[in-house]
Amino acid sequence: MKNYIIKPIRSIKKEVFVPPDKSISHRAAIISSIASNTTKIFPFILSKDTHATLNCLKNLKVDFKYKKDVLEIEGKGLYFNKKGQVLLNAFESGTTIRILSGVLCGQKFSTYFDASASLRKRPMSRITIPLRLMGADIKGREKNIEEYPPLIINPVENLKAIEYTLPVASAQVKSAIILAAIFAKKATKIYEPILSRDHTERLLNLFKADLVRKNKIIIVSNTKKLISPRKIFIPSDFSSAAFFIVLSLITPNSYILLKNININPTRAGLLKVLKRMGANIKILNKKDYYEPYADILVKSSKLSATVIKEDEVPTLIDEIPIFCIAASFAKGNSIIYGAGELKVKESDRITAIKSNLEKVGVDIKVEKIFIRGKEDIVLKIKGKQNLFKENGKNFMSFSDHRIAMSMIVLAKALNSESLIDDIGCINKSFPQFINLVETL
Ligand code: S3P
Repeated sequence: MKNYIIKPIRSIKKEVFVPPDKSISHRAAIISSIASNTTKIFPFILSKDTHATLNCLKNLKVDFKYKKDVLEIEGKGLYFNKKGQVLLNAFESGTTIRILSGVLCGQKFSTYFDASASLRKRPMSRITIPLRLMGADIKGREKNIEEYPPLIINPVENLKAIEYTLPVASAQVKSAIILAAIFAKKATKIYEPILSRDHTERLLNLFKADLVRKNKIIIVSNTKKLISPRKIFIPSDFSSAAFFIVLSLITPNSYILLKNININPTRAGLLKVLKRMGANIKILNKKDYYEPYADILVKSSKLSATVIKEDEVPTLIDEIPIFCIAASFAKGNSIIYGAGELKVKESDRITAIKSNLEKVGVDIKVEKIFIRGKEDIVLKIKGKQNLFKENGKNFMSFSDHRIAMSMIVLAKALNSESLIDDIGCINKSFPQFINLVETL
């Protein structure tokens, strides 16, 4: 536990580089490892989570080197060169265990896939159920009606194609099915009622996989060979940029220019939401690669409340904590529908956000409602325009990187010093965050 004193900031005028996209880095490493030929991925983010993915690849006998931000992976085809039972550990990385499991179901060896204490509490039935429908032999530790890590995966003769409607809008679940579908004989159809981030689809197209999208349906067919594009550039992570975007909006007389940020619309939904709130945000130098990216110029703005609907949530799922900070400074009542998934992230983010915001007197309500026969959560935040007059407080990270960074952003806009209990968790996605904040 490493606590941290947060000093208020009065004005920011700065160009900021945030790290490469974590979601794309995981996927690029995993897909390159089952492709033919060598792939240079640059820049590749080395954080605790991507380290977990690389560690798994190392145990799967994948050869790679990492030097000066470049990860070079030697792909040797769809099947890892292992026999017997392989022990893997995803530590705290949900993306590692959920996505890599899709590939492991198609392999010729068994895997015992473990995780650290926090990830051992996160639900896995969302992947084991569809993967079992595909004929995979995968099982988690059962408790009540849910499955949790460790997962045990045994080889099967063949995986079957399925037609599957995603019950939760989750890119990790979708990706696990897509990657398993590469090994199945016929074409798998995945119906996504609400779109989630599509990095796996975009990367697989870059590797010439047989994957097409028709509106809300993804069709993936058996792929004998993934052909490496040899080089993959990874734009900077929108989720990391989001903390600086909101910080410059709520700090008077400020601007921040963020360079080369991924602005994939299935991922950067916060941009649309903040613009609706009156944020002064400009997208500059837009480039179209397999992912679109651009520079983002943000200036201090007076924000007004907004409503986020259920189908918008996946496009900013990881940015809800920082959105709540923006909403706390905005004029009026903001509402987020369909926020239930926040309860099963690195922490129960609903509880974490509520207890921290209440410390500074923000009125936040959590309501349970039923949407299409399913229980869900609605979050209501009443903005407090004079919040910046509030004195600093003792905030809690709940050992969750995005809660820690969101509370640091809030604390920077308060009237006096605050304290946060644990910043070690930030290494999960953004090891340079504290250093960057201190240069502002
Ligand atoms: C991720 C998808 C999201 C997100 C997570 C990363 C990914 O999770 O919250 O931080 O890389 O696919 P879900 O798929 O569970 O929504």
